[in-house]
Amino acid sequence: MYGLVNQAIKEMVVDGHGEAVWEKIRSEAGVVDVFVSMHQYPEDLTDKLVRAASAILHTNPSEILAGFGQYWVGFASRNYDYVLDMSGQDLLTFVKNLNNMHARIGLWMPDLKPPSFLVTDETPGTFKLQYRSSRGGYAPMVSGLLKGLGERFNTDVTIEHTRGIAQGLDYEEFIVCYATRTQSAMCR
Ligand code: HEM
Repeated sequence: MYGLVNQAIKEMVVDGHGEAVWEKIRSEAGVVDVFVSMHQYPEDLTDKLVRAASAILHTNPSEILAGFGQYWVGFASRNYDYVLDMSGQDLLTFVKNLNNMHARIGLWMPDLKPPSFLVTDETPGTFKLQYRSSRGGYAPMVSGLLKGLGERFNTDVTIEHTRGIAQGLDYEEFIVCYATRTQSAMCR
């Protein structure tokens, strides 16, 4: 993965827990301290960081990844708000543009191996989302990303991870229920 991702994990830990905790996690994972955003790092470096954060913070890896997904939306808007802005001003439009957004990012990150997303079964206030990736294990991050996008668009979102690779599919499926804060929420 590009160093940008590991850099954001570091920033999340330092923001939430301080430099000393980051140093413990970094040393437990056995990784470098400085990540170059545009440099490629081994996939297992990111896994090691997540596992070490899980051990040191006594939080399971899925929650670390979900927290990271949520953090990523803020991180991206601090650093690349123009990219997010181009992708839509409401949750559904934005989610439908995620593939185009990563394709645009791929123009300046040519080794990007982006995930892909497909919206199905749309009704007012709900949709299903299929998430495909060349990697495994990042479904909890998608839940967190959707939560973070809800915050970006002032939209209440509930997300249910319904089925996926473990059930023999080639994607992970989520049911997303949403309501803007001016509407009454229909999500349970
Ligand atoms: C400006 C905003 C964004 C940038 C610059 C960006 C860039 C990236 C980069 C560099 C990676 C690592 C992949 C690699 O190195 O091959 C990645 C992965 C990923 N991105 Fe984005 N991204 C952005 C926004 C989003 C948003 C809003 C979502 C919301 C769903 C998203 C979903 C994901 C997921 C789930 C992965 C994990 C890797 C995988 O599933 O295989 N990204 N993105």
